Amino acid sequence: MIVYYNGSFIDKSEVCISPDDRGFLFGDGTYEVIRVYNQSIFRLADHLNRLRRSLREIRMNDVDMDDLAKILNALVKKNASMTGDAAIYVQITRGIAARNHRFPTTLHPSIYAAIIETVLNPELRKNGVKIILLPDQRWGRCDIKSISLLANVLAAEEAHRQNAYEAVFIRDGLITEGTRTNIALIRDDTVRTHPLDHHILGGITRDVVLELCRKLKIPVSEQPFHQDQLLDADEIFIMGTTTEICPVIQVNDQLIHGGKPGPMTMKIQTVFRKLIDKGRI
Ligand SMILES: Cc1ncc(COP(=O)(O)O)c(C=O)c1O
Repeated sequence: MIVYYNGSFIDKSEVCISPDDRGFLFGDGTYEVIRVYNQSIFRLADHLNRLRRSLREIRMNDVDMDDLAKILNALVKKNASMTGDAAIYVQITRGIAARNHRFPTTLHPSIYAAIIETVLNPELRKNGVKIILLPDQRWGRCDIKSISLLANVLAAEEAHRQNAYEAVFIRDGLITEGTRTNIALIRDDTVRTHPLDHHILGGITRDVVLELCRKLKIPVSEQPFHQDQLLDADEIFIMGTTTEICPVIQVNDQLIHGGKPGPMTMKIQTVFRKLIDKGRI
């Protein structure tokens, strides 16, 4: 597979990452996962805006997003055989420097981009998934798409051990988001999801879902909700780049909507899929 690393398109096996890279030493960097449908990059501008913002928040302002857009488009073309339904992983770290917590005096970011295959069993989107709830042990800037993902990794592993698709975090009694998804509940025909703040990542799929709801005239409320309100919901769904829109039919041991996907979730999912199939999203 051809990947991009610091100025060159090379075979993945030829990439050499320095042990002094600050991504390796400190998790000092940011990343994006961007979906590719039929060789076309989904919401590239939105992902690059979020990446620009993450970089700005970690005080790395010098990466040119127009250049990066060209690189990512070229990467997709160079891997045309595998980009029918895939994703791009792009990571930018604060580069190579002798280990010292402070920033290096001159910035030479390390940029890596590769195609990853994103195969999610379609049965999960059709039949729904189980989630578990765990305390949110992440840091206070979850709006930055940081490559330091230890708390997410531990929570995802716990979900796997409990036969769940996703772990969803609770902070101060409020539901924030999943390890790799945002979450919404539906109650009295209104879609409710955590507002954009430092406790969640502003998901691109979340944006698309809220746009679709407005088009479909489904009321939306961006208000935090309590664990009890989640368990009392008519329907629940999670959303993210790989997951797309997936009904939740069980939270811990409790069934939601009788253990079946709810009709409003499936309506939003169907409209989302139709637009992707028509290349109109
Ligand atoms: C913590 C977290 N929340 C939400 C999301 C969903 O974001 P997006 O829809 O942009 O994939 C992700 C995606 O990886 C994530 O890591």
